[in-house]
Amino acid sequence: MRKLTENCKTIAITCRQWGDTGKGKFVDLFADWADIIARGVGGDNAGHTICAGEKTLIMHLIPSGIFNDSKGKHNVIGSGVAFNPRSFLKEIETLDLAHLSHNRLSVAYNAKLILPTHGLLDKLREAVANGGKIGSTGKGIGPVYADHADRQGLTVNDLLNRDFFQKKIIRHLEYKTRILRAFDSELINQIAAKDFELNRFLKNGKFDAEAITEAYMEYGRLIGRYVADTDDLLRTAVGNLNILLEGAQGDLLSVDYGTYPYVTSSDCTAGGLARGVGLNESQIDLSLGIIKGFYMTRVGCGPFPTERGGKKSDEWCNGGHANKAKEDMLYAGASVGDEDEFIAGIALRQAGGEYGATTGRLRRVGWLDLPLLRYVRKFNSEDIILTKLDVLSTCEEIKICHHYIYHGPDFAYAGEKIHDGDKIREGDELYEAIPDALVLEACEPVYEVFPGWKEDIRGCRNFDSLPQNLKKILEYVVCETDIRPRILSVGPRPEETIFI
Ligand code: IMP
Ligand code: MG
Repeated sequence: MRKLTENCKTIAITCRQWGDTGKGKFVDLFADWADIIARGVGGDNAGHTICAGEKTLIMHLIPSGIFNDSKGKHNVIGSGVAFNPRSFLKEIETLDLAHLSHNRLSVAYNAKLILPTHGLLDKLREAVANGGKIGSTGKGIGPVYADHADRQGLTVNDLLNRDFFQKKIIRHLEYKTRILRAFDSELINQIAAKDFELNRFLKNGKFDAEAITEAYMEYGRLIGRYVADTDDLLRTAVGNLNILLEGAQGDLLSVDYGTYPYVTSSDCTAGGLARGVGLNESQIDLSLGIIKGFYMTRVGCGPFPTERGGKKSDEWCNGGHANKAKEDMLYAGASVGDEDEFIAGIALRQAGGEYGATTGRLRRVGWLDLPLLRYVRKFNSEDIILTKLDVLSTCEEIKICHHYIYHGPDFAYAGEKIHDGDKIREGDELYEAIPDALVLEACEPVYEVFPGWKEDIRGCRNFDSLPQNLKKILEYVVCETDIRPRILSVGPRPEETIFI
C-alpha cells in the first residue's frame, strides 16, 4: 500500500466495467491514506457496500469515505453530483443510528439539485419506452443532468434562499407542466401512487410550487451546515493534501464513453470524476481502475455479449417478475458448473451476492470481456484492481472472451485499428469493442477456456501463494489488454487484499 501511494497526492478509484465492482472496499482502504475523499459524479443511483468492522452499510450519495470521518477525514460531495436532499438526510440518519460521525462532510453549493419532477420524468420515460427501456434506477438522474444542460436546473445553493428558490421553481414548473401534459394523466397518477415523495407534491396531476418550496426550505435548513464551495476547497488542497477521488458507476456506463444509450447520465470515467470536483484529469497522480476478477455484471438493460444465459438471463433479470427470494427458491442448489449457462449464471450471482445495492435488482452476470477491456484501456491508465476473485473459486473452468465475431449489417466505422477497411461486415473479428449498443448486440463472443483453480483463496495474503491456475489466467489478461494489476481482492474484508 505504501509503495503504491508513494509520491502520490491525488488518487482516483473508478470502475472499468458497468459498476458494482467493489469500489467501496477500496475507498475505505485508501481512506487511511487520504485527507479528503470526494465524489464528483452520479447521485443516489449508486450503491456502495462496505464491511467496516462488524458493520455492513450501504451508502448511495454520501462518499464511502464517510466511515473515516471520526479519523479526521474530510468527505466531499462535489459539484458534478446529482444531489437528492431527501436521500442525503436519510443517509445522515443511517449514520446517526450507527453512531458514525459526519462532522467533516461538505456538499458543493453548485451540485445539481434533484427535484420531484426529475423522478417522475425518469419513470415516465421508462414507462413509455416501448422496447427502449434503459433500466434506470428511477432516481431522476437523467432528467436532472438533462435540465442542467438545458439550463432548467437548480442547485444546492438554491436550498438556502427562499425567494430565489421560489422564483426558480415556478419557472421550472411552468416549463415542466407543459411537457407533462403530453403524458397520460392516468399513468402519472399510477406512478405517483407508488411514490410517497411524489404524491405529496402533486395535486390533481399538477406540481404544487408552494408545497415543494416548503419542503425544500426545510431540507435547506437541515442541510445548510454542510454546504460549501468544495471546488475551491479541492483546488486549494490539490498537491498539498492527499485527495482520494471516489468514482461511481463505471466507464461502460459513462454518458460520453459507455455502451450508449444504455448508460447513466454523467461521465463516470476518471476524467469526468476529476471535473466533477473542480479538478482536471491531469491532476490525478494515480488512477486505479477496478474490474471484477474474471467476470462482469450489469444491472438494467443494454448489450452484454458475454452474459451467461444470454437473452434468457436478460429477460429473467429485467422482466420485472424475478427477485432474489424467488430465484433462491426456484434455483436452490444451482451450481456454477451447470451445463445450462442460465443456471450457472444464477449460481454465480448467488455466489457473488450480485444484487443491486440501490434497487435490489438481479445483476446480470457474464464472463470477462477483453474487447470491452481493451476499449476502456484506450482512455485509461494501466493500473488495475481485480476484485471478487474468491467468487470463482469453485469453477471447473473459467472462460475469457478473447474477441467477437460480428453478425450484423455492414457498419461504417472510423476506427481503422479495429478493422482494415472502412466497414465492419458479417463474420468479421473484432478485438476491440465499439461502444454502440446495436453493434454490441450483434457480437458473438469467442472464448479462451482455462481450468479453474478450485481452491479457497480467501486466506492468500501474497501473490506467490495464489494458485498457479489463477496466475496463468491473470497473465493472459495482462498480455492481451496491457493492464498492470496493482491490487487483488480475494474476499470482502479489508485484510483479504493482496498488493502487488
Ligand atoms: P440511471 O443512472 O438511474 O439513469 O440508470 C441508468 C443505467 O445505469 C441503468 O442500467 C442502471 O442500472 C445503471 N446504473 C446506475 N447507477 C449504477 C450503479 O451505481 N451501479 C450499477 N449500475 C448503475
Ligand atoms: Mg454499486
